[in-house]
Amino acid sequence: MREKVDVLLKEALIKISGAADSVGLNDLRVKYLGRNGELTALLKGLKDIPPQDRPAAGKIINEAREAIEEALKHKEEQLKAQEKQRRIEAERVDITMPGKRQALGTLHPLNIVKNEIVDIFTSFGFELCDGPEIEFDYYNFQALNIPKDHPARDMQDTFYINDNILLRTHTSPTQAHVMESRKPPIRILSHGKVYRSDDDATHSPMFHQIEGLVIDTDISLCDLKGILDEFARGIFNENTKTRFRPSYFPFTEPSVEVDVTCSMCGGEGCRLCKGTGWIEVLGAGMVNHRVLLNCGIDPEKYGGFAFGLGIERITMIKYGIPDMRLLFENEVRFLSQFRKGR
Ligand code: PHE
Repeated sequence: MREKVDVLLKEALIKISGAADSVGLNDLRVKYLGRNGELTALLKGLKDIPPQDRPAAGKIINEAREAIEEALKHKEEQLKAQEKQRRIEAERVDITMPGKRQALGTLHPLNIVKNEIVDIFTSFGFELCDGPEIEFDYYNFQALNIPKDHPARDMQDTFYINDNILLRTHTSPTQAHVMESRKPPIRILSHGKVYRSDDDATHSPMFHQIEGLVIDTDISLCDLKGILDEFARGIFNENTKTRFRPSYFPFTEPSVEVDVTCSMCGGEGCRLCKGTGWIEVLGAGMVNHRVLLNCGIDPEKYGGFAFGLGIERITMIKYGIPDMRLLFENEVRFLSQFRKGR
């Protein structure tokens, strides 16, 4: 019996000390000490040996059992310590490494300028209105006094979807929708993307407009001039002056084009204003009586004015941006220059 136990014990101790991990160790525990384990089998076999030999044999087996348990415990502690060490190595953090910078975004310059424009006009009581970008020919042109085959259609190179449906060429159709559905007084801004078949340094096939419309009793060109003067001072600077030149739009009569003194040179003449001291910024006029009639408003009772401007154009003038395409390429070095608090 002693020999058998010694062989078993020796084998067990070697295997335990060579166990690679806690799973392997547990297998060994089962192999020797489990209910069907090898040492357990020897204990069970005690009943087959003569009774006088049993105490001695039992003692030998129990000592072996204690030795194996001790070895298992020792090995388990060792493995645990190793695993902990490995985890510490794997999760090592170098606290002296520089942190990862969180890149801060910024509003796009077009949104910055749009928000400024909207702030100025909402402070005058204008309400911001949306309309569809895919529009009926009727609202984009006919309601605004531009019949089919009218030469003024050439002013707005149009993307047609079919004979009656197109990508809006300006945000004025939103104004027609509002006039049709509301009663005066009306004081709204229409805004959003517009589309024209045009593409160069100062034109893009998609650009953004904001247009204003006021319909009420006793509205004159002076009201228009007063509001646009305020706007020019608000969006450029306090010293900005405006100049109204006679122009033509089918939907306004009279129509004007509005220039402002150059925000870069203050009117002296420079690269931005091509030496003239003035920069054209928007179109405007008194709403044509035909447009009022088309939209169900009595021109004997009500009148109004409208104006329209391109946000890209205002942004380019305000920041001296030479090429409109910079506004659409979204190059981060360009955009980050508009970050507040720079
Ligand atoms: N809708 C015109 C355009 O896009 C701008 C405009 C609006 C002119 C209102 C006069 C009055 O060209």
